[in-house]
Amino acid sequence: MTAHDADWWRDAVVYQVYIRSFADGNGDGTGDIAGLRGRLDHLARLGVDAIWINPWYPSPLADGGYDVADYRAINPMFGDTAQAEALITEAHERGIRVVLDIVPNHHSDDHAWFRAALAAGPGSPERERYVFRDGRGADGSEPPNNWISMFGGSAWERVPDGQWYLHLFDVRQPDVNWEHPEVRADFEETLRFWFDRGIDGFRVDVANSMVKQPGLPDIEPGVNDVQDGTHPYLDRDGVHEIFRSWRAIGDAYDPPRVFVAEAWVPDPERLARYLRPDELQTAFSFNFLTAAWLADDLRSNIDDAIAENTAVGAPATWVLSNHDVCRHPSRLSRKPEAGRGWNLDDVLDLPSDPELGLRRARAATLLMLALPGTAYVYQGEEFGLPEAEDIPVDRLDDPTWTLSGHTLRGRDGCRVPLPWAAGEPAFGFSGGADAEPWLPQPEVFARHAADVQEADPDSVLRLYTDALALRRAHPALGGGTLTWRDSPEGTLAFDRTGDDGESGFTALVNVSSAPVSLPEDAEVMLTSGPLTPRDEVPADTAVWLRS
Ligand code: NOJ
Repeated sequence: MTAHDADWWRDAVVYQVYIRSFADGNGDGTGDIAGLRGRLDHLARLGVDAIWINPWYPSPLADGGYDVADYRAINPMFGDTAQAEALITEAHERGIRVVLDIVPNHHSDDHAWFRAALAAGPGSPERERYVFRDGRGADGSEPPNNWISMFGGSAWERVPDGQWYLHLFDVRQPDVNWEHPEVRADFEETLRFWFDRGIDGFRVDVANSMVKQPGLPDIEPGVNDVQDGTHPYLDRDGVHEIFRSWRAIGDAYDPPRVFVAEAWVPDPERLARYLRPDELQTAFSFNFLTAAWLADDLRSNIDDAIAENTAVGAPATWVLSNHDVCRHPSRLSRKPEAGRGWNLDDVLDLPSDPELGLRRARAATLLMLALPGTAYVYQGEEFGLPEAEDIPVDRLDDPTWTLSGHTLRGRDGCRVPLPWAAGEPAFGFSGGADAEPWLPQPEVFARHAADVQEADPDSVLRLYTDALALRRAHPALGGGTLTWRDSPEGTLAFDRTGDDGESGFTALVNVSSAPVSLPEDAEVMLTSGPLTPRDEVPADTAVWLRS
């Protein structure tokens, strides 16, 4: 990788590795660094530019590792620092960059600072690094305010000495106090620690919640439940100053290190504020992920993301699935509007047609990969994996299940260990060892196993591989601009022009329920599914055309 690659992130395809479920190298039923190193060639053949690895730090895994006990070490369950360094080297040798996950809103309650805060007691400097308050009511037995945890229930937990601490997520994830200089300095040290080890960037967890309104006022529903800067903890303007200092740290490296924000900020103009030239480089456009499978909805969300990001000089960042949402073939297997419900629990009760879902998922992928900007692929989507919708409840691990009072299954269905070989125990997840995978795999995974997909010329894996190769080779793809074409109702058609002004590429996505004709003189390069006998594009199918 050479210096002129400094802008690699502007049109990269980044593959998300949920390490616990990617590949198990030591045969204990849990994914690890050894397993990932053993499968790097799969990622090289697939043709991705980078990987983003979910948190791999020491953690009690109360929230799948987003409860970090030590930001500058590796969870022994996944390996050690030497293995991490070897992985970085081996990925770089294959031209694959490595992005880690940083979790700045909260620590694990196992973090040394939090233990010290509990031991030190009310009023101590140790408690200042978190958000401790006295309770309300005569005896302080009421939480300090009415905030609700993202996983359900109060966002406050009382400790034995009577004080309460804030946790916007699980009770084991105390929020840190970003007004405290030691908190800032410590996260900056973590950035440098990994950048010094050759990491190319960070995905920033809950980038929009770190700063809280002084006084921690109650949330008045309907008054401050919107994200316009007035909410007591969502998208407050104070976060931007933090990211300016992070950007300066990343820019001091050669090549500069990069960031992608996980910020569920629905207003694209406010989201783009995170991407001003001296802040973060990229942020997921989740409005694309949550759009309904309807031409108007897709188009308006694409337009809004591109327009607002272009205004600040940033590329859009597209994603269809990740470890927090129902896998897109299963979302799209429901009625079109169900695309809007992104959790399994939102769509579970709706009738589902898995074949239709997979057809739409293939089309959605060609749509995403033809858009200008950067794109994220979640592990297993290249195999067309569906959501595991019926994991026995006694195997559920996501804190959502407990904190919702056993009403919401949560996110485990998209986190099931990957199938690598149809005929092996656990579909080859543990390299032939018969260890039980940490989450059970549904039988249907056999059909999606890597070896089955590799042998099938019509597989989802072949589609991803072909699409990524074309995207890399075609000068109109990657960065650049998009121009809509007139097209039949219920369809999307656009021309692409690359960064160097090259054109000659058109995408047509048929989101309607009837076949449509190909544009005249179009030469088909790739289709998400077979055309009709009359060479029309069937419903729920996308084509890439040389134009
Ligand atoms: C977003 C992460 O993607 C999710 O998995 C986690 O539960 C929350 N942030 C809290 O860290």
